[in-house]
Amino acid sequence: MSDHKRVLSGMRSTGALHLGHLHGALQNWVRLQYEHECYFFVADWHALTTEYKEARTIQEKVAPMVADFLAAGVDPGRAVLFIQSSVKEHAELYLLLSMFTPLGWLERVPTFKEQVQALADKEIHTHGFLGYPVLQTADIILYNAHYVPVGMDQVSHLELCREIVRRVNFLTGQEVFVEPAALLTASAKITGPDGRKMSKSYGNAIFFGDDEEKVRQTVMSYITDTQRARKSDPGRPDVCNFYPLHEIYTPAAEREEIKSGCTSASMGCVECKKRLLPHLNTAMAPIREKRDELLRDPSAIMDVLVEGNHRARAKARETMARLREALGMNYSPDSSGA
Ligand code: TRP
Repeated sequence: MSDHKRVLSGMRSTGALHLGHLHGALQNWVRLQYEHECYFFVADWHALTTEYKEARTIQEKVAPMVADFLAAGVDPGRAVLFIQSSVKEHAELYLLLSMFTPLGWLERVPTFKEQVQALADKEIHTHGFLGYPVLQTADIILYNAHYVPVGMDQVSHLELCREIVRRVNFLTGQEVFVEPAALLTASAKITGPDGRKMSKSYGNAIFFGDDEEKVRQTVMSYITDTQRARKSDPGRPDVCNFYPLHEIYTPAAEREEIKSGCTSASMGCVECKKRLLPHLNTAMAPIREKRDELLRDPSAIMDVLVEGNHRARAKARETMARLREALGMNYSPDSSGA
């Protein structure tokens, strides 16, 4: 830890992770853990906003997700890894913040109306879903995080978080909370074989747990430059849906060779894809092995979470004591009010 800045980020518990998560978030988390005090967590209560009808399916998604965090290099000796619902202070803070948050602020979060429409079958026109960014605010400021690494889609939630912080600080007349800043992840855009953003729900993801054969099948199924109908047509790596993977995994010299093979029409798409496989497998092998090892002994994952929950709770309690005091709501006859 080279400074006193705190970083916090979370992921909804959607289950096993894929290369989109690795390049979009986890590699960034791994880097940040060497620079700051980091808190990373599984947002299982947030998952409930859309999955409340299948609440029981959430439990089996948590451990594999934590295994994937660890496999990607998140180090529990450096970062605090925890589960949102294990730290009940998130719920108390969420409740208190909800008293301070004007409804209009929530109704104008752009994701809200869009999602209610887009996920009509899930019936998420609920109090909890409207409050999603309030819960997210609680997640962040409970640890007084300075930086929140997120993707572009979360920027409006961070803006709301800052507004809530300003309001609470103003109304209590105290600097109770730090105003956090989004750390926008500058990451390569990872698309799936179909050209859409890699996502479990699109069925186009390469998961950490996929074996080499599965990875090969997915790689070979990528759409490439759609205007390149024959090998004798020159290809355009800069518009190709597949080529960006070489930019991540293939060493520069070989990449140049592939690029010129493509643009001069001397190398076809099948060959180009095959050239990626050894590099992709080399990168994925240690992650896959670590993941398998952890899943063979889930007690190691549980140990990490027991320790992380404990450390998160200590920090969360400190913050809540300060907030209760600032609000004059520390009059409970037992000592802590908690
Ligand atoms: N809303 C975030 C997402 O969908 C997940 C999340 C929940 C989060 N709480 C957070 C991210 C706090 C950063 C900080 O990706």
